[in-house]
Amino acid sequence: MNKTVVVAGLGLIGGSLAMNIKKEGHFILGHDEDVQSLELAYRQGVIDEKAEDLYEALSRADVLFLALPITTTVQVIRKLNNVTLTKDLLVTDVSSVKNEVMKEASLLTNDRITFIGGHPMSGSHKNGFTAAKPHLFENAIYVLSPVNDRDEKTKELRELLEATKARFVTLSPQEHDEMTAVISHFPHLIASSLVQQAKKWQHTHPELKNLAAGGFRDITRIASSNPPLWQDIFFQNKQQLVPMLEDWIQEMTRLKEYLQNDSQEETLRYLTEAKTFRDGLPVKEKGAIPGFYDIFVDIYDQPGTIHKVIEVLAEAGISIKNIEILEIREGITGVLRISFPTGKEQEESALLLRRKNYEVVIEQ
Ligand SMILES: NC(=O)c1ccc[n+]([C@@H]2O[C@H](COP(=O)([O-])OP(=O)(O)OC[C@H]3O[C@@H](n4cnc5c(N)ncnc54)[C@H](O)[C@@H]3O)[C@@H](O)[C@H]2O)c1
Repeated sequence: MNKTVVVAGLGLIGGSLAMNIKKEGHFILGHDEDVQSLELAYRQGVIDEKAEDLYEALSRADVLFLALPITTTVQVIRKLNNVTLTKDLLVTDVSSVKNEVMKEASLLTNDRITFIGGHPMSGSHKNGFTAAKPHLFENAIYVLSPVNDRDEKTKELRELLEATKARFVTLSPQEHDEMTAVISHFPHLIASSLVQQAKKWQHTHPELKNLAAGGFRDITRIASSNPPLWQDIFFQNKQQLVPMLEDWIQEMTRLKEYLQNDSQEETLRYLTEAKTFRDGLPVKEKGAIPGFYDIFVDIYDQPGTIHKVIEVLAEAGISIKNIEILEIREGITGVLRISFPTGKEQEESALLLRRKNYEVVIEQ
């Protein structure tokens, strides 16, 4: 049955979600404080109507998506108790940190409202409606955290999001925030601090930026993402991040001592343990963070190189999950990382490419 869906916040995530919900034939009322985004979404047919007053629009809505900054999402949820509703309303959000949002949602007394927390774990370093795209969530993990265990409502939400082709997992807010702190928020803090450190050295070593290819670019890529979004995330998840930073500082002190004291054996053990753990990631089994199966193909920086590699796989009907160029510099061999959903495609692809004389390494 077609529903009336309000999407509040038509940026990267809200815009991309609206594109998918629209595909299913639902009626979309869009709301955004930025008139240009609202107008653009309307003119492109992503939304059917512009809702200038969010709370007024809710009287007609079956579903509300909150795709706003996290702090704003919390404020809107707080106001939902004062809205008079004539029919049931399913409310969901997309916030990257769940704790505060879910706490606020659990205080909702409006019994017309069912709240299901959501976090589509896919993004971009760009933001705003112009960065939105329908395939943003394809194969991405979409975390759901229902406030009360209302299975039929969760099913309804998943059906609404069917076109996203995301993979849904249910997690408690606590589990979600702990895990995302470890694998996403904390690494982002560190990546930004590494860039800050390089920036300081740039003053005395102007050639630094020309050397900062490969590894450095790889591990600091996330530092290029939308700063206001990450500021919001860090403060929302500071309960997890502050103790992690304390551990990290201790860890750095330990490393500093190893070097100062010439503790060669300890250093080797430290590096070996880290390598062993890293090589075991991502976990190649069903779970919250399912892994991909990667191959690494040596390539030369010449026009058409990537096309030729992909052509070999396409001709064999092998579909890939992800592709990334690592360490590419003019004239020097770069590495193409290609990810597959299963080990079968991984091995088959390696075999096919080796037959064409490509150097291929499989990540075990
Ligand atoms: N970007 C990512 O990688 C990513 C991934 C998953 C989830 N999220 C979550 O999605 C949410 C939105 O992030 P985004 O990346 O789409 O940001 P964005 O900046 O692209 O979009 C946010 C939109 O909300 C609008 N907005 C802001 N305050 C408003 C208000 N008070 N009233 C009405 N509209 C308002 C902005 O004009 C903008 O269009 C955040 O909660 C974030 O945690 C982001």
